[in-house]
Amino acid sequence: MAEIIIVRDEEEAGRLYATCVAKLIRRKPDAVLGLATGSSPLAAYRALAGEIGKDGLDVSRVRGFALDEYIGLPLDHPESYHSTIHRTVVGPLGLDPALVHVPGDALDGAPLSDEALVAPAGAAYDAAIEAAGGIDVQILGIGTDGHVGFNEPGSSLASGTRVKTLAEQTRLDNARFFDDDVDKVPTHCITQGIGTIMKARHLVLLAFGAGKAEAIEETVEGGVSSFCPASALQLHPHATVIVDEAAASRL
Ligand code: GLP
Repeated sequence: MAEIIIVRDEEEAGRLYATCVAKLIRRKPDAVLGLATGSSPLAAYRALAGEIGKDGLDVSRVRGFALDEYIGLPLDHPESYHSTIHRTVVGPLGLDPALVHVPGDALDGAPLSDEALVAPAGAAYDAAIEAAGGIDVQILGIGTDGHVGFNEPGSSLASGTRVKTLAEQTRLDNARFFDDDVDKVPTHCITQGIGTIMKARHLVLLAFGAGKAEAIEETVEGGVSSFCPASALQLHPHATVIVDEAAASRL
């Protein structure tokens, strides 16, 4: 692994991310940020929001690509990743919504059975990232089973953006956003592939709390294997893993 940084808390991790991204945007005002949902990146977005305006930091031309989306939720569903990214990142940072993309944007609640819409969406998303010149900094959380984006254990490490079935563990983990009712959690998703994620020039993976300790151990010290999709980061030339003491406790 390129770098492992152990921090006191999420705020300290957030400041590290914000410093790095602010520097990037000053150098490249139309930087391409890879965005993620989940609780892990929230302090990082808050810290970056706090940098805006300092020394003239202007994010009006910053572009964004999110990692993943549920299949079958309308864009305006409060738990769609479209809504989540716009609520937690685009709004607070004041990004131009037209410059921020989420993989399911073209689907807007279309069911899995709508093949004409669903089938081409993954390749079209990868083409859009490529046309933007690739992602400069991709922020990542990690699932308790080692998934990144929605690349569940067993995902090909060379995969592009595509439709996937959600693991039962992930649906259970995410039921808290759906009235604690696992039956309300969609069964499928569209996610950037590990191959897509690996093309980003800098990966920043954030993990906090003892619940992530095992996944972090596998990611950092396990063999590179599709059974822990995050372990692919070991092969990336510029991957930074930022963890608190609890998430680092098995290293
Ligand atoms: C979801 C997302 C992942 C995220 C993971 C962990 O499954 N698809 O991108 O990393 O949850 O979320 P959290 O950061 O809330 O622990």
